[in-house]
Amino acid sequence: MSAATYQYVDLPDASVVTTRALLTARDNISDTVAARAMMCIHGGAGFGKTLAVNICLRALEPHEDVRKITFRARPTARAVRYELFTALDLAGEPPRHPSEFDRLLKTALAERPRTFLVDEAQWLNGEAFEYFRYLWDEPSTQLAIIFVGGEGCHTVLRREPMLSSRIFIWQHFTRLTPSEVLEAIPLFHPVWADADPDDITFADQHAAHGNFRAWAQLTAHTRTALARTGRSRVDQELLRWAFSRLA
Ligand SMILES: Nc1ncnc2c1ncn2[C@@H]1O[C@H](COP(=O)(O)OP(=O)(O)OP(=O)(O)O)[C@@H](O)[C@H]1O
Ligand SMILES: [Mg+2]
Repeated sequence: MSAATYQYVDLPDASVVTTRALLTARDNISDTVAARAMMCIHGGAGFGKTLAVNICLRALEPHEDVRKITFRARPTARAVRYELFTALDLAGEPPRHPSEFDRLLKTALAERPRTFLVDEAQWLNGEAFEYFRYLWDEPSTQLAIIFVGGEGCHTVLRREPMLSSRIFIWQHFTRLTPSEVLEAIPLFHPVWADADPDDITFADQHAAHGNFRAWAQLTAHTRTALARTGRSRVDQELLRWAFSRLA
């Protein structure tokens, strides 16, 4: 499967690796969507959350109306209403009055079942989370919501008992373990496919530390080093040069 659209750095020939976390996310997301429930995927930066949920939702999309909302700053309830208005492709001007806006959103959401992917959910404060709960609780809507966020997301959500008590599944993304690295990385990119496993372990211990985004960056620098030196295979000298760019 091509990973082109989801790669952090432009990395030709990279593939999506079906990690244990991605498989678990697939089950969790399909169970959440089937139950029209809410779930939360949380964990450190670069661990592969966004990529995993996008791959899993893409598989559901032929049958499921999926809408993606990504926050980049701390939104108010008003900003959440506007984001939803845009995500739902609603026609006309956004209503001026909150109650009118709420009615419009609830009517649109009552049309058919929908799934929201809310990424970067660590930006949401209590008021913004509460607005999602309000829409989800409305009997006429059939919403499934996947909240995805950094480590802070869990803490913020836990502070909101009204919402957190309604979360159906919590999934914590963690680093790849050293043995997962040896399985996943040769499948991730051709430069690692025939690398010495000791060199992969060396790179993980010194630079990537089980973090998928760091592996993607390291792989990009390693490709450059292979091209510049004309070598056909990764070695420790070449890796040290690549690490020097990551430090
Ligand atoms: N399963 C995977 N297969 C292949 N590459 C992956 C996989 N997971 C992550 N990556 C690589 O790691 C990069 C970072 O992953 P991703 O953006 O999903 O992290 P994240 O957990 O959402 O981080 P953040 O919290 O910063 O948003 C991806 O752009 C991709 O290059
Ligand atoms: Mg992300």
